Amino acid sequence: MSVHIADHPLINHKLGLMRVKDITTKDFRDLASEVSRLLTYEATKDLQTQTKTIEGWAGSVEVQEIKGKKITIVPILRAGLGMMDGVLDMIPTAKVSVVGYYRNEETLQPVEYYVKMTGELEKRIALIVDPMLATGGTLLATIETLKRAGCRSIKGLFLVAAPEGLKRVTEAHPDVEIYVAAVDERLNEVGYILPGLGDAGDKIFGTK
Ligand code: URA
Repeated sequence: MSVHIADHPLINHKLGLMRVKDITTKDFRDLASEVSRLLTYEATKDLQTQTKTIEGWAGSVEVQEIKGKKITIVPILRAGLGMMDGVLDMIPTAKVSVVGYYRNEETLQPVEYYVKMTGELEKRIALIVDPMLATGGTLLATIETLKRAGCRSIKGLFLVAAPEGLKRVTEAHPDVEIYVAAVDERLNEVGYILPGLGDAGDKIFGTK
Protein backbone atom coordinates (compact mmCIF):
# COMPACT_ATOMS: atom_id res chain seq x y z
CA MET A 1 0.00 0.00 0.00
CA SER A 2 1.39 3.40 -0.78
CA VAL A 3 -0.79 5.60 1.48
CA HIS A 4 -0.71 4.99 5.24
CA ILE A 5 -3.11 7.09 7.29
CA ALA A 6 -1.88 7.02 10.88
CA ASP A 7 -5.17 6.61 12.68
CA HIS A 8 -3.71 6.74 16.19
CA PRO A 9 -5.30 8.33 19.28
CA LEU A 10 -2.17 10.34 20.16
CA ILE A 11 -1.77 11.65 16.62
CA ASN A 12 -5.48 12.47 16.28
CA HIS A 13 -5.45 14.33 19.61
CA LYS A 14 -2.34 16.32 18.80
CA LEU A 15 -3.61 17.21 15.33
CA GLY A 16 -6.85 18.42 16.89
CA LEU A 17 -4.83 20.78 19.11
CA MET A 18 -2.95 22.05 16.05
CA ARG A 19 -6.22 23.01 14.31
CA VAL A 20 -7.21 25.54 17.01
CA LYS A 21 -7.35 29.00 15.41
CA ASP A 22 -5.18 31.01 17.81
CA ILE A 23 -2.56 28.38 18.65
CA THR A 24 0.78 29.89 19.67
CA THR A 25 3.91 29.47 17.58
CA LYS A 26 5.52 27.44 20.35
CA ASP A 27 2.60 25.06 20.74
CA PHE A 28 2.27 24.55 16.97
CA ARG A 29 6.00 23.90 16.68
CA ASP A 30 6.07 21.48 19.62
CA LEU A 31 3.06 19.56 18.33
CA ALA A 32 4.50 19.40 14.79
CA SER A 33 7.61 17.78 16.29
CA GLU A 34 5.59 15.37 18.42
CA VAL A 35 3.43 14.22 15.50
CA SER A 36 6.56 13.91 13.35
CA ARG A 37 8.11 11.56 15.91
CA LEU A 38 4.99 9.38 15.83
CA LEU A 39 4.88 9.40 12.01
CA THR A 40 8.54 8.37 11.98
CA TYR A 41 7.68 5.41 14.18
CA GLU A 42 5.02 4.37 11.64
CA ALA A 43 7.21 4.98 8.61
CA THR A 44 10.13 2.92 9.92
CA LYS A 45 8.17 -0.19 10.89
CA ASP A 46 9.46 -2.09 7.86
CA LEU A 47 13.17 -1.35 8.37
CA GLN A 48 15.18 -4.54 8.36
CA THR A 49 17.18 -5.63 11.37
CA GLN A 50 19.87 -8.19 11.96
CA THR A 51 20.88 -10.10 15.04
CA LYS A 52 24.20 -9.55 16.73
CA THR A 53 25.68 -10.82 19.95
CA ILE A 54 26.92 -8.36 22.56
CA GLU A 55 28.24 -8.63 26.10
CA GLY A 56 25.36 -7.70 28.38
CA TRP A 57 25.34 -7.28 32.16
CA ALA A 58 24.73 -11.02 32.66
CA GLY A 59 26.83 -12.37 29.79
CA SER A 60 26.28 -12.75 26.04
CA VAL A 61 22.93 -11.63 24.69
CA GLU A 62 21.50 -11.45 21.18
CA VAL A 63 20.21 -8.00 20.21
CA GLN A 64 18.74 -6.48 17.04
CA GLU A 65 20.35 -3.73 15.04
CA ILE A 66 19.06 -1.92 11.96
CA LYS A 67 20.77 -3.18 8.84
CA GLY A 68 20.94 -2.18 5.26
CA LYS A 69 19.88 1.14 3.88
CA LYS A 70 20.77 4.34 5.72
CA ILE A 71 18.35 7.22 5.93
CA THR A 72 18.30 10.77 4.64
CA ILE A 73 15.64 13.18 5.79
CA VAL A 74 14.50 15.55 3.03
CA PRO A 75 12.78 18.66 4.41
CA ILE A 76 11.07 20.78 1.77
CA LEU A 77 11.81 24.44 2.56
CA ARG A 78 10.54 26.14 4.50
CA ALA A 79 7.78 24.39 6.43
CA GLY A 80 9.44 20.97 6.21
CA LEU A 81 12.08 22.22 8.67
CA GLY A 82 9.34 22.16 11.31
CA MET A 83 9.21 18.36 11.06
CA MET A 84 12.93 17.72 10.77
CA ASP A 85 13.82 17.77 14.48
CA GLY A 86 11.03 15.33 15.33
CA VAL A 87 12.36 12.84 12.78
CA LEU A 88 15.96 13.42 13.93
CA ASP A 89 14.91 12.73 17.53
CA MET A 90 13.99 9.21 16.39
CA ILE A 91 16.84 8.72 13.87
CA PRO A 92 19.71 10.84 15.22
CA THR A 93 22.26 9.52 12.72
CA ALA A 94 20.21 10.43 9.62
CA LYS A 95 21.77 12.75 7.06
CA VAL A 96 19.73 15.73 5.88
CA SER A 97 19.14 16.66 2.22
CA VAL A 98 17.38 20.01 1.75
CA VAL A 99 15.27 21.12 -1.23
CA GLY A 100 13.55 24.45 -1.89
CA TYR A 101 11.08 25.56 -4.58
CA TYR A 102 9.31 28.77 -5.50
CA ARG A 103 6.20 28.95 -7.65
CA ASN A 104 6.46 30.41 -11.16
CA GLU A 105 3.43 32.71 -11.12
CA GLU A 106 2.85 32.29 -14.86
CA THR A 107 3.09 28.53 -15.20
CA LEU A 108 2.18 27.88 -11.52
CA GLN A 109 4.88 25.18 -11.60
CA PRO A 110 7.44 24.73 -8.79
CA VAL A 111 10.92 25.94 -9.71
CA GLU A 112 13.88 24.52 -7.81
CA TYR A 113 16.02 27.22 -6.15
CA TYR A 114 17.97 25.14 -3.64
CA VAL A 115 19.11 21.52 -3.57
CA LYS A 116 21.79 20.11 -1.28
CA MET A 117 21.72 16.34 -1.20
CA THR A 118 23.78 14.02 0.91
CA GLY A 119 25.91 11.37 -0.86
CA GLU A 120 25.16 7.75 -1.79
CA LEU A 121 21.47 8.35 -2.38
CA GLU A 122 21.21 5.02 -4.19
CA LYS A 123 21.95 3.32 -0.85
CA ARG A 124 19.55 5.39 1.23
CA ILE A 125 15.90 5.57 2.16
CA ALA A 126 14.71 9.16 1.70
CA LEU A 127 12.13 10.45 4.17
CA ILE A 128 10.63 13.59 2.61
CA VAL A 129 9.01 15.84 5.24
CA ASP A 130 6.52 18.63 4.65
CA PRO A 131 3.57 19.44 6.92
CA MET A 132 1.03 19.90 4.11
CA LEU A 133 0.55 17.73 1.02
CA ALA A 134 -1.73 20.13 -0.86
CA THR A 135 -1.63 20.13 -4.68
CA GLY A 136 1.36 17.77 -4.64
CA GLY A 137 3.39 19.97 -7.02
CA THR A 138 6.45 20.41 -4.81
CA LEU A 139 6.30 16.81 -3.67
CA LEU A 140 6.33 15.59 -7.28
CA ALA A 141 9.31 17.85 -8.01
CA THR A 142 11.14 16.56 -4.91
CA ILE A 143 10.50 12.91 -5.82
CA GLU A 144 11.74 13.53 -9.35
CA THR A 145 14.89 15.26 -8.06
CA LEU A 146 15.60 12.36 -5.70
CA LYS A 147 15.03 9.75 -8.39
CA ARG A 148 17.27 11.63 -10.84
CA ALA A 149 19.96 11.62 -8.14
CA GLY A 150 19.70 7.83 -7.90
CA CYS A 151 17.44 7.36 -4.88
CA ARG A 152 15.28 4.23 -5.23
CA SER A 153 13.52 4.12 -1.87
CA ILE A 154 11.35 7.12 -1.04
CA LYS A 155 8.79 7.78 1.70
CA GLY A 156 6.95 11.01 2.49
CA LEU A 157 5.71 12.14 5.91
CA PHE A 158 2.96 14.77 6.13
CA LEU A 159 0.73 16.13 8.85
CA VAL A 160 -2.29 16.78 6.61
CA ALA A 161 -2.98 15.82 3.00
CA ALA A 162 -5.64 16.86 0.49
CA PRO A 163 -7.23 14.03 -1.52
CA GLU A 164 -6.38 15.87 -4.77
CA GLY A 165 -2.65 15.97 -4.01
CA LEU A 166 -2.53 12.42 -2.72
CA LYS A 167 -4.18 11.12 -5.91
CA ARG A 168 -1.81 13.06 -8.14
CA VAL A 169 1.32 11.83 -6.36
CA THR A 170 0.29 8.20 -5.90
CA GLU A 171 -0.74 7.92 -9.57
CA ALA A 172 2.58 9.37 -10.76
CA HIS A 173 4.76 7.49 -8.24
CA PRO A 174 3.01 4.37 -6.89
CA ASP A 175 6.34 3.17 -5.48
CA VAL A 176 6.54 6.10 -3.02
CA GLU A 177 5.10 5.34 0.42
CA ILE A 178 3.10 8.18 1.96
CA TYR A 179 2.55 8.48 5.74
CA VAL A 180 0.02 11.09 6.78
CA ALA A 181 -1.61 12.00 10.08
CA ALA A 182 -4.91 12.97 8.40
CA VAL A 183 -6.50 13.27 4.97
CA ASP A 184 -8.77 16.31 4.97
CA GLU A 185 -11.73 17.25 2.75
CA ARG A 186 -10.38 19.26 -0.17
CA LEU A 187 -8.32 22.17 -1.46
CA ASN A 188 -9.80 25.66 -1.60
CA GLU A 189 -9.50 27.89 -4.69
CA VAL A 190 -6.00 29.08 -3.69
CA GLY A 191 -4.60 25.67 -2.85
CA TYR A 192 -5.08 25.62 0.93
CA ILE A 193 -6.30 22.44 2.57
CA LEU A 194 -9.75 22.54 4.22
CA PRO A 195 -10.23 22.28 7.13
CA GLY A 196 -6.42 22.00 7.28
CA LEU A 197 -4.05 23.91 9.52
CA GLY A 198 -3.78 27.21 7.65
CA ASP A 199 -0.31 28.28 6.57
CA ALA A 200 1.91 25.74 8.31
CA GLY A 201 5.13 27.64 7.50
CA ASP A 202 3.81 30.83 9.07
CA LYS A 203 2.65 28.94 12.14
CA ILE A 204 6.00 27.18 12.62
CA PHE A 205 8.11 30.29 12.06
CA GLY A 206 5.77 32.85 13.68
CA THR A 207 5.48 34.93 10.48
CA LYS A 208 2.33 36.26 8.83
N1 URA B 1 0.56 25.00 2.53
C1 URA B 1 0.11 25.31 3.77
O1 URA B 1 0.87 25.78 4.60
N2 URA B 1 -1.17 25.10 4.04
C2 URA B 1 -2.04 24.56 3.17
O2 URA B 1 -3.21 24.37 3.51
C3 URA B 1 -1.57 24.25 1.88
C4 URA B 1 -0.26 24.47 1.59
